[in-house]
Amino acid sequence: MIKNSPYQIVDFVQEIVRLKKEKTAAILAHYYQEEGIQNIADFLGDSLYLAKMAEKAEADIIVFAGVHFMAETAKIINPQKKVLLPDLEAGCSLADSCPPVDFDSFKQLYPEAVVVTYINCSAEIKALSDIVCTSSNAVEVINSIPKDKQIIFAPDKNLGRYLIKETGRDMILWDGACIVHEAFSFDKIVQLAQQYPKAKFIAHPESESQILEIAHYIGSTSGLLNFVQEDKSDTFIVATEAGILYEMQKRCPSKQFIPAPVEDDSCACSECAFMKLNTMEKLYRCLKNEEPEIQLDQALIEKARLPIERMLSLK
Ligand code: 13P
Ligand code: SF4
Repeated sequence: MIKNSPYQIVDFVQEIVRLKKEKTAAILAHYYQEEGIQNIADFLGDSLYLAKMAEKAEADIIVFAGVHFMAETAKIINPQKKVLLPDLEAGCSLADSCPPVDFDSFKQLYPEAVVVTYINCSAEIKALSDIVCTSSNAVEVINSIPKDKQIIFAPDKNLGRYLIKETGRDMILWDGACIVHEAFSFDKIVQLAQQYPKAKFIAHPESESQILEIAHYIGSTSGLLNFVQEDKSDTFIVATEAGILYEMQKRCPSKQFIPAPVEDDSCACSECAFMKLNTMEKLYRCLKNEEPEIQLDQALIEKARLPIERMLSLK
């Protein structure tokens, strides 16, 4: 709630619900968003689910409560819609670790290679790709590429190394990473696991290799959610952005979820500062004013769409 003037108090939830209806808008939110945003979303999910919902959306306006590359993807696959992002500064360290000019030069070193990019990258990088993937379907995407083809995988080297192990394909990796998933402390996770010997340790594949090596389960945010629901254990140590714990607790109220500890005790490093730039107030203002809007050059949309469509058409 906020005082709009000395006489008026805005109830964000009520106003967002009213504006959504009035403007035929849909809110798509990622599991890393703050709890209030997760609660008010029409579609809540991981990046693959949200890309699919963006493709199907019938609403005139899509409000993307996530980060920039996610909203950009929604615009690319549904260019006739107005796509809004509550805070245009909500970027992604992983996407930023792959500048298009440098990636283009890198790609030219391997002219025969098929370029697979993780969806956490800019529209310019997607436009330089053959096929896009998310952490939910990356194995399937890699397996869809003929065995005799060389593969470049970008931008996440941690996910890339994990995929090399999972698929047995020898891929050329771009040297990018996510600051949130690289912040987890191996030593502190081991100590915590000793305190909770019955707990299962689960991790997102953007985490570093030594962390993934000790995980009982590795998966995307939706994969992790499914695992905690199906597994018999009562306690889980979770190495991904802390926002996911809210949905885990909702789905499994009797189980205990412990965020994996990070190296630096003085920071909330397991929270993605970019994701958390979106707030209920910004979401309300964005719906009310229909800005900030994702604007993309038509030629870039055309180039970036094909690799996303190839991914979405995989069964
Ligand atoms: P998911 O594909 O699991 O939703 O992950 C998105 C992400 O940004 C992880 O940091
Ligand atoms: Fe990007 Fe990492 Fe934040 Fe995911 S958690 S949006 S990869 S910075």
